[in-house]
Amino acid sequence: PALGELSVSTDTCIGVDKKGTIKIKKQFEEGSDSESNIDLVIAENGLERSELEILDYSADPNKFFFPGFIDTHIHAPQVPNNGIFGNTTLLEWLEKYTFPLEASFKDVKTASYIYNKVIDRTLTNGTTLASYYATIHENATKLLNDIAYLKGQRAMIGKTCMNQHSPDNYIETLDECKEAQYGVIKHVEETNEGHESFDVITKPIITPRFAGSCTEELMKWLGELSQSGEYHVQTHLSENHGEIKWIADMFPHFDSYADIYAKCNLLTNRTVLAHCIHISEEEKDLLVKHNSGISHCPTSNSSITSGEARIRWLLDNGVKVSLGTDCSGGFSPSILTVARHALLVSRHLVMKSKQDQQKLTTAEVLFLATVGGAQVLNVDSYLGKFETGFQFDAQLIDLNVENSPLDLFPFQQGRWQELLDKWLFNGDDRNTVKVFVNGRCVVSKV
Ligand code: GUN
Ligand code: FE
Repeated sequence: PALGELSVSTDTCIGVDKKGTIKIKKQFEEGSDSESNIDLVIAENGLERSELEILDYSADPNKFFFPGFIDTHIHAPQVPNNGIFGNTTLLEWLEKYTFPLEASFKDVKTASYIYNKVIDRTLTNGTTLASYYATIHENATKLLNDIAYLKGQRAMIGKTCMNQHSPDNYIETLDECKEAQYGVIKHVEETNEGHESFDVITKPIITPRFAGSCTEELMKWLGELSQSGEYHVQTHLSENHGEIKWIADMFPHFDSYADIYAKCNLLTNRTVLAHCIHISEEEKDLLVKHNSGISHCPTSNSSITSGEARIRWLLDNGVKVSLGTDCSGGFSPSILTVARHALLVSRHLVMKSKQDQQKLTTAEVLFLATVGGAQVLNVDSYLGKFETGFQFDAQLIDLNVENSPLDLFPFQQGRWQELLDKWLFNGDDRNTVKVFVNGRCVVSKV
């Protein structure tokens, strides 16, 4: 589907091979018998029924497969702070809540306990690919990689880099950063040896926290490193007015906040920029020029009072847009919650501007949650959609699960647009009953 389009495949059979690649997608006549359809596909493709695992949900009109969610911005160590931000805004919030918690990941036992919970929690919410910020610590970051790999969640593993304007107990020197960064990259790559590019589970991502906590020298080194290994990059850009002013004063010889990253070679076609709320026309043009994408984090932006990102403006200008939970600036590990909030924030912009076209629809925010994420992470040739040649990263949704706050009435069956609206606004992780990555079931609640 394209942005704004809702593509529903009913009476459809999807065949997935051992590597998780969708090899067959075949639609049958509406209401035709599923058993004989499956037999037909088996016969046509010369397959052996006994060697196949067949999942047939055609008898239940309330179940459907949806592409796995892609969370392009989440701080794994911050999840224990979800919901805890008081009345702070960004810079005070970092000092008061965030740095002390992240500093505690020097202890690998703490890291192990929390990272296990985080991967479970995001997986159970249907996140099949997440781009994680870890902490500055090499061992804890390696552990995050190992836990994601073992639990089977696709993950970008970012060792957070910060060598200035940080607390004494949570800062590194340039040399310490280099050593830890090399260690993490080597470890992540060794973990995935033997995988092909499309079925790799974890990948390193270069993660200068933001210009405020990195010297120009460090950012230039990270830019070079990203170029040398074609590594992904993630950082924060233009989140809060106080932050923007502080960074402008710190880097007076650059044209803008985005220009700092551009001149340090950190803007690439595989760079994720979180927030981008207050960027100028010129900064937007820089993102377009380098084909860098953004992670829209509306739950975080509302909670710590950062602002409302102009998503329609970015989309209309050809900027790639995805969604991020930004835990714990954001309060929820659920991309469904973030998608809902993205829709609402777009309405708030309309209430101020009276420009109705700024509204995002259900189909659009669910596109950002899947295809948009794949575009921003540069994996849209094999993730985000159910098409032949794509990997089967999916969630099985049951709208009628027991204890779900989503009340379903029989007369609503088959009205897919309305059912998706209900799911977006009233659904939660209870409706995500199975999760698949590379065709492998990694969560099953039924
Ligand atoms: N800017 C620098 N660090 C952070 C962080 O941890 N969260 C958010 N939302 N913004 C940041
Ligand atoms: Fe963030």
